[in-house]
Parts: sequence; structure tokens; C-alpha cells
Amino acid sequence: MGSKGTFYITTPIYYPSDNLHIGHAYCSTAADSMARFKKMTGYDTYFLTGTDEHGQKIERKAKEKGVTPQEYVDHIVAGIKDLWKLMDIDYDDFIRTTDERHVQTVQKVFRQLYEQGDIYKSEYEGWYCTPCESFWTELQLKDGKCPDCGRPVEKAKEESYFFRMSKYQDWMIDYIREHPEFIQPQSRANEMIKNFLEPGLEDLCVSRTSIRWGIPVDFDPKHTVYVWVDALTNYISALGYGTDHDELYKKYWPANVHLVGKEIVRFHSIIWPIMLHAIGAPLPKQIFGHGWLVIDGKKMGKSVGNVVDPVILCNRYSSDAVRYFLMREMPFGSDGEFTLKSMLTRINADLANDLGNLVSRTVAMVEKYFDGCIPEAAETNEVDQELWQLALSTAGEVEKEVNAFQFSSALSEIWKLVGECNRYIDVTAPWILAKSENDRPRLATVLYTLSECVRRIAVMISFVMPRTPERIFAQLGVDDPELKTWDSLCDGEFRHLKCGTRVAKGEALFPRLDIQKELERDQPAETPQKPEKKNDKHSSAHAAPEFPAEIGIEDFGKVKLQVARVISCEKVEKSKKLLKLRLSLGKDGERQVVSGIAAWYSPEEMIGKQVVLVANLKPAKLAGIESQGMILCAASDDDSSLKLLSVEPGMEDGAVIG
Ligand code: ME8
Ligand code: MG
Repeated sequence: MGSKGTFYITTPIYYPSDNLHIGHAYCSTAADSMARFKKMTGYDTYFLTGTDEHGQKIERKAKEKGVTPQEYVDHIVAGIKDLWKLMDIDYDDFIRTTDERHVQTVQKVFRQLYEQGDIYKSEYEGWYCTPCESFWTELQLKDGKCPDCGRPVEKAKEESYFFRMSKYQDWMIDYIREHPEFIQPQSRANEMIKNFLEPGLEDLCVSRTSIRWGIPVDFDPKHTVYVWVDALTNYISALGYGTDHDELYKKYWPANVHLVGKEIVRFHSIIWPIMLHAIGAPLPKQIFGHGWLVIDGKKMGKSVGNVVDPVILCNRYSSDAVRYFLMREMPFGSDGEFTLKSMLTRINADLANDLGNLVSRTVAMVEKYFDGCIPEAAETNEVDQELWQLALSTAGEVEKEVNAFQFSSALSEIWKLVGECNRYIDVTAPWILAKSENDRPRLATVLYTLSECVRRIAVMISFVMPRTPERIFAQLGVDDPELKTWDSLCDGEFRHLKCGTRVAKGEALFPRLDIQKELERDQPAETPQKPEKKNDKHSSAHAAPEFPAEIGIEDFGKVKLQVARVISCEKVEKSKKLLKLRLSLGKDGERQVVSGIAAWYSPEEMIGKQVVLVANLKPAKLAGIESQGMILCAASDDDSSLKLLSVEPGMEDGAVIG
């Protein structure tokens, strides 16, 4: 480990002004995923997060609550740390701007800048936006309000220290132009140059006398240091910059990347580099500005009041699922709409169906056909080889995408493999191979291939979903730590799992969610409960009723038949006949159907099949389980043979038949 060099990554330090929302968790999840990925791929990684605790905003909040600012922040910071624990945000250090180590570094940097003439004393007259902790000149205001957030600004006039930013303007422009990788995505670099640098940099007011809750300027203590100068310095104070214990600074600085939301790229790509340059320190290699989680197009935020609580989501749906959704749903760098429905839909589709079914089918078939021991792969054919090749190349693709911060694409590469594995099951049809002794070697190859692919998938998802892999490894019987490493994906050899490894079927990785129910959970119950359905009888799927000699089209027209895809399937306990199926009707949602086909079809082979559903049949209970419709089969007179009805390939789920 550590042979590839160091990697230092940071999140912004968060304002402890209120409970953090899922937008904050987005930034931390991305940083944590990246840090985990770098660790796993051989970098000596350091991941810093923390809290930004000074400023007028905090001072006022504490007053409102009747506590000291320190008491106020201590309480909130404890909650933030709990959240990161809940979400498996595995930072190496948590810096607080109230830490003594931080205070000292800030004072030292400020003093150095003053002594070398980059900071000078003057008088400030202008406008201040307290929520943004930003100074604005008269000209910069938009309709007399803060140009960033649109809220009212306050007049500020006082003796202040100023930082000679103007002196570095040309240097900064050149630097950004000559280092296209410095600000990412690239479009944000152009924005910085056009909107802030080219119009001309003014000297920055870097101290206040009216704000007490801040770091005092040590040589003029009636001044406190401007919160952004204070805050930005966290990235080096945490490493011991300017102290006798600066080993971490020597080892990890310059940072590989500061991950920040797009609205604070400005501070990180102008003020911060100029400060560093002025004190003679190297610049971070990259500032990456990610997009926002938005609701109805508006940034999720406390001020808008449209926040979603990550604690509730994690407790309900698991932190792995929430992390997966955050990293999968939108391209990193762009804004993305957050809706509970899109999250639940993803959890069901990608985690419960695609991944969950793959793991459970694989393990179930190894149990059923090989007494629970992973068999040795025999000869392979083209179909196997294609999957082996894909499995081998996926790790490289994932690495490429993650290194470019394209988490969503990285996950979609992994899910391509998941999808191909599920398709491979359908194509190779192990349940048919299992019928003939001659096909034993084929069956062994197929199940070895699937098991090894599942192992690889578990390794690959671990940077985003740190908990799920262990659950998969437990089912696969993998305990050798070597088999959990990224290296085990990269040596060009497909076969790593030892044959004979004993699998053990476990719980479903991600239980399927009833989306409608989940969506209604926090809504006040408006719609009256529907009366309980009567227990009317339409028993097994192939009951043979008496038919009239003829019916009119109007009779047939009453029956709504739809194409439905089986997304999960399991045996009904205590019944030899029944399978419980979950069907997707595409746009029309999902249905649960109980069908008496267990003697002819195994749950594993049902998954993925398209069947024909009588969609408007009155719901009924079979073995105590509600069946919402019936799937059609053809059965021989004596019931010795039964075949499902299907349509030719290529029809979308939910298509109406008739
Ligand atoms: O800005 N979607 O702190 P902060 C995505 N203390 N990201 C979001 C978001 C959303 N809806 N809402 C917030 C500060 N964030 C300063 C930073 S660094 C030296 C000082 C992100 O608590 C936001 O973009 O307001 C930012 O990167 C981070 O949360 C902290 O925001
Ligand atoms: Mg903010």
C-alpha cells in the first residue's frame, strides 16, 4: 500500500448553523468515495473534513438560543460527526476552526502577510451579506441585494485590514489559463476568469472589528479575521502548517483536490490560491466544483426550507443505498433533482432487482446444484469468455471514471457487468443444464463464472457502498482478504475464487420497497382506506373453467392483458405449488402475483422473463398472500405439462395485448 504516492482530498468545512441536509451529505459522500477508492488502489490517502464555526451568523444563532457560541457549535458539531458515522464517512481528520491548532495557524498566516506588506490597515465601507459571509461593493449588488443569494445586505463601515489581492490578479489569470486542470469542471474556470478576474480584483477586507466570534488578529486583537480567510486556512492548519509538527504538511501538501460546491469555487480558486502564493506555499492541484441537489429546480438549502434529512433516509433505506443513489443518479459536476421517488425507484431497480437478484440467484443455484460448494470451471465457450473479458476490463473502466470524478459513469460500468451476468443466467439457463448429467461441466463453468463475477462486483462497489460487499462475501464464502482487494481484479486472470468455497444463502441484500407506501409514509392520510377485498376464488393459474360456446368481442374486451416482466420471484413457504412473483408493468408500476407454477418453473429461471398478465382481475388471496392478477399459462389436460405464455422479444413491459 502507498506505493503509488500520496493523495490528499478535502471537503469544505461545513457551517454548523443547522442540521446538515442531504445536499451536504452529497459532498461528503463523494469525497469519501474518492478517498476509499484511492486507498483501495494503492495511494497513501488523507481525507480531511471539518466545521467552519466562526462568524456573525453563528454569533447571532447562539444568542437566539441563549447559549455561548462555543456551546452552540459544540452541540451541532457532535451531531455532524454522528451523521458522518451513520453514513460511513471515514475521514482521517476532522478540523474545527475553533481548534487551538487552527487558531494558531491562521494567526501566523495573517501575521506573515501583514509583515510582508500584503495586508495593510485601512477603512472598509460597503455591504455585507451575513448569510453568505461575503462583502460586496455598491456596484456588485443586484437590486440592492446580495448578488449570490438575493437576500438583504447590511451596511458596514469600520477600520479593517485589507489583503492586496489586486497585486496578484494577473498572476492568477495566467495561472488558471496555464493550468487547465486546476479548476474543474473546465466551464467553472471560464466563469471565474470572466466574472471575477477580468473585471478586476479589488483588495479584500480581511478583518472585522464588529464581530467578536472569530479568531483575533494577534497583533491587533480588536480585529477578528474574516471568516473565509479563517476557513480556507483549515486545509493546511489540519496538517500542522507553520508548527513544529508539520510532518503531515510535508507529506500531503499540496492537496490533490479540494472538493467544493459550485457556489464556493470562487473563494477556493481565487482567494485561497492567492493567499498560498503570497505565503510561498504550493497551490492545490485541483479545485473541483460539484453541482447541487435541487428540489423543483431550487438548491436544497436551509434558507429555502426544502431540505431532506439524511438521517431519516439512512435509517429507512440503509446508508449504502443512499450513498449509491447520490453517486449514481446525476453526473458529478451538474445539478440534479432530488426526489424520494427517484431514489426509491433506483433502489428497487439497481439494488433490489439487478444486484440483489444476481447475488441471490447465484448463491441459490450453487446451493441447489453443487451442494453449496463453488464448482471448478470446466471448459469455456464464447459466451463465457465474453463475460470473463467484460469482468476483466470493467475494473480499468471504473478506475478511469472515478479518477475523473465521474462516479455515475463508474457505477454504470459496474452495473453493465451486473446486467450482463443476469443476462448470462437467462442465456445459459442453468436449470436446464441441471437436468442432464452430460451438462454437468457446463453447469459448473456457468456457476463458477457467476460466483467470480459476483466477487468482482462486490470489490468494485465497495468505495461507494462500504457495507454491502461484506454481506456479499459472507454469502459467497469469501474470507481471504486478498480476494477483497482491488489488486485481485487487475492481474489479467479471471479465476480467483477457490473452487470448493462454501456459499451460504443470506437475507436479500436490499429488500424491495413498496414505493407507493414509502411515498405516502410522511404524508397525512387523506385518502380513505379502501375496504378489505373479499376472498374471492380464482385458485391456481391453470384452473379449467366451463366455457360458453361463443362470446362477443365486448366480453373479451373486458379482459385487460398486459406484458409484464418478472423482477423477483420466490417460493411460497409451505406450498409446493405456489410461486410469489413481483412483476413490472413499466410505466404502470409493479404488481405482486401468486401463481401455481412451482412444479414447472424455479424462481431463478422466472426472473427476467416476460409473461402475460390478466391485469384487471380482482385481487385475491392465495395461501394468505395477495395476488394482484394472474399470469397466463397453457396446461395439458392432465396437468403433466405447463408452459407460460409470453410475447416475442422486444416488447416493452406494460404493453397492452389485444
Ligand atoms: O460553504 N447540493 O459551508 P456550507 C449540493 N463553510 N451541495 C450542497 C448543497 C446542495 N443542495 N447545499 C450545500 C460553506 N452543499 C463554508 C465552506 S470551505 C473553506 C468553507 C455543499 O455548510 C456546499 O456546496 O454552506 C458546500 O460545498 C458544502 O455543502 C458546505 O456548505
Ligand atoms: Mg452554503
